[in-house]
Amino acid sequence: MISTIQQRSDYTFKANRSLGRHGWLRLTPAYGVKLVEKLLANVDREAIVLDPFSGTATTALVAAELGHEAFSFDINPFLIWLGNAKSRNYSQQCLIDIRKQVKQVLKEYKILIGSDNWTPKIFHIERWWSSDTLKILSALRTALVNQFGEPEDHDDYNLVWIAFCRLIIETSSAAFNHVSMSFKETVSEHNCEYIDELFISIIELILMSAEQNICGSVQVVKVDARHITELDGIRIDKVITSPPYPNRISYIRELRPYMYWTKFLNEAKEAGELDWLAIGGTWGIATSRLNYWEVEDETLPDEILATVNSIKISDGKNASILGVYVLKYFYDMHLHLSSIRSVLKDGCELHYIVGNSTFFGNMVDTAALLSESMRVLGYSQISSEIVRKRNCNKALYEYCISATWSAG
Ligand SMILES: C[S@@+](CC[C@H](N)C(=O)[O-])C[C@H]1O[C@@H](n2cnc3c(N)ncnc32)[C@H](O)[C@@H]1O
Repeated sequence: MISTIQQRSDYTFKANRSLGRHGWLRLTPAYGVKLVEKLLANVDREAIVLDPFSGTATTALVAAELGHEAFSFDINPFLIWLGNAKSRNYSQQCLIDIRKQVKQVLKEYKILIGSDNWTPKIFHIERWWSSDTLKILSALRTALVNQFGEPEDHDDYNLVWIAFCRLIIETSSAAFNHVSMSFKETVSEHNCEYIDELFISIIELILMSAEQNICGSVQVVKVDARHITELDGIRIDKVITSPPYPNRISYIRELRPYMYWTKFLNEAKEAGELDWLAIGGTWGIATSRLNYWEVEDETLPDEILATVNSIKISDGKNASILGVYVLKYFYDMHLHLSSIRSVLKDGCELHYIVGNSTFFGNMVDTAALLSESMRVLGYSQISSEIVRKRNCNKALYEYCISATWSAG
């Protein structure tokens, strides 16, 4: 049966690119709008929706487009900013002003090229942009700051900064042919005319889709999903989410070009610190800290401990530390599944999209292990089904785990 399962790109970020606000900025591990719509079909419009792992706010935005009140949590400050910017309404006057002012900036910024403009401290920046492209982008950034302020200064001008993020990625040598971002063989050269035209086309695309108002509401809030305490007394009817998988993908690594250019990240050591807070974080200091990390709670299901032990005793390089990595992942997810119970309404339905992974030939059956955590924590009606195949060659799948919370 498993061999007939398809890769279903309509359930991934790929299908989001043509869907208005959902297509503004890519995050490869984002899931597809269609998947969320399917999970929200037949859900009462009054139902309050939560995504405790917001990412690009796909769940919250789909829910609000359908008229729901939606909440979303993340620990990454850039994604919190992006999620709120993607899902608020902008007045017609604001869109007109942006269009006019951007045209003015594009007429005037060229005199700044060659001046000592601010550039981000991205490691090996020359791998991303040629020195000439970099001069143009940093002059344009300076002019945009003079006109609109920094990204966090004015909510109304968020759209300009989302467009700028898209410009920097489209002029870079970033390649997206793997799950994780890599580099093209060569770094392209771009001139001012090309960059101006590209920026105008991106701005137009974003302004056009921002014209469509959203009827529900979204709040993306900074909350560590391992320690959810309360939500101003609000109780959640439906959880739809995709937490990190135990696959060593670092969201900070994926997002670093955007985060540096918008000043949400200023130097390399901050990246490691942020990744240490992320479940499954594995970049820089986050990996070396695993050497000293110990589990504090003994209530983890035996199945998790058995999987971790089989990884630790395999003869692969760094098997022991990767065993700790997997243990910490399931420990953190257990903390999450425990703490989220405090904001759930009786009868709340939860849907978690997760992927399995392998370490030295040991299958980490994420869906089965998280289902065990849910069982230990008192969730009921726990089931899981395969949603799609993730990789042509390997036995890697995405699953949807569903469960119900009854306070009983
Ligand atoms: C797979 S992504 C979610 C993608 C999302 N479904 C989308 O469509 O864009 C997982 C998200 O979990 C966030 N995250 C990781 N650890 C977290 C934590 N401790 N608390 C809250 N969010 C966390 C990451 O920053 C990342 O944005």
